[in-house]
Amino acid sequence: SSTAHKTDDGDLVVGGVPVADLVAEHNTPAYVLDEEDFRARARAFRDAFGGWDVYYAGKAFLCTAVARWIAEEGLCLDVCSAGELEVALRAGFDPARIGYHGNNKSVAELRRAVAEGVGRIIVDSVQEIERLEMITADLPAGSTAKARVMVRVTAGVEAHTHEYIATAHEDQKFGFSITSGDAFEAVRRLEAAPGIELLGLHSHIGSQIFDSSGFEVAARRVLALHARVSEELGVTMRELDLGGGFGIAYTTQDDPSDPAQLATEMGKIVEHECRALGLEEPRLSIEPGRAIVGPAVCTVYTVGTVKPVTLDAGAVRTYVSVDGGMSDNIRTALYDADYSCTLAGRASGAAPVLARVVGMHCEAGDIVVRDEFLPGDVAPGDLLAVPGTGAYCRSMASNYNHALRPPVIAVRDGAARVIVRRETVDDLLATDVG
Ligand code: LLP
Repeated sequence: SSTAHKTDDGDLVVGGVPVADLVAEHNTPAYVLDEEDFRARARAFRDAFGGWDVYYAGKAFLCTAVARWIAEEGLCLDVCSAGELEVALRAGFDPARIGYHGNNKSVAELRRAVAEGVGRIIVDSVQEIERLEMITADLPAGSTAKARVMVRVTAGVEAHTHEYIATAHEDQKFGFSITSGDAFEAVRRLEAAPGIELLGLHSHIGSQIFDSSGFEVAARRVLALHARVSEELGVTMRELDLGGGFGIAYTTQDDPSDPAQLATEMGKIVEHECRALGLEEPRLSIEPGRAIVGPAVCTVYTVGTVKPVTLDAGAVRTYVSVDGGMSDNIRTALYDADYSCTLAGRASGAAPVLARVVGMHCEAGDIVVRDEFLPGDVAPGDLLAVPGTGAYCRSMASNYNHALRPPVIAVRDGAARVIVRRETVDDLLATDVG
């Protein structure tokens, strides 16, 4: 993260706090969240995308403190489940500034969203339209409450990312297809529903994307539908959301997304398409998650065992086991994601060895960092920090092998504050009722 640096003694300092001090007080594993870095990234998107609304995608990581920071920095919030909605509402987040996603929202969940006055519900299926028609028909006479919705469309784009995190090609579960005409029919039906206010279209093409041509193709296809709706139905939709997915650097090989450059590129694309189609520009929004929180967190582990293993070719790989693993970061095992790591508590002049950082779980695929060069004297008790773990690590954490999920510790201006505490064995057993 941007405030992280190492002292001459090899101490990693984040937000003005030496990681070794954090560990002395809070133990490991722990997620260390650089609050100022998080806020700066949120602000960078908000400022770069001036007239647009920026919805922080809470699925990347959400807790009460983060919901408040997002509100303070002037961003809106994207939630994609009843649980995330609950966190946001309890944190006092303005419901009118929340977008609610999901491909399988229940009647009860939708009813709550409408009752709370959620700013936009992103509709994903015909059943959901039926549910909203029913819910709004049930509203008490004279009620001015409405379901404000956007239609999630699949733009038919193959974003160049891992298959499980690409979401705009046709053969997957999200959205209404533009090509098949389903999206147009959804718009027609929503427009005709008295209790429903249709705001516009929503497209999200995938995650960890570096190439803006995917956004370009998606914007073109979505705006063509927008124009068709206006021509054939006489309906002018006021809004358009182009989703999130902006890539971050996990290792030195990747280039991080630059909000200013993205804003310029995406702005040009929309302006160009709108002009070509003779459309007035809708109110635009995006939903970055990873690009805001990803780089702002590092996970700190303690080394437990070190085992040199001789490979077929005679080379040696040093397996460094830490006190966490796939329960706090499933991304390496699930997506073959690349992370790096660094010794955090001391300096070492030892010659580097090829290391693989693995977890404590009962599974060979439990890898945190596939390949890294670590000082050859790495030993039990050393601290390792893995940067870039803010997005989809704590939010995808599990209790596999009855692991206790680590705390999230916010650091800023030399002070640390636990914003999500470490789970206890009692937390873990509270649901095990015999
Ligand atoms: N908007 C929608 C509708 C989404 O589905 C997503 C992510 C986002 C915004 C935010 O995307 P971001 O800017 O964070 O890339 N677990 C996977 C990523 C799943 C992304 C799901 N949707 C991973 O760890 O890479």
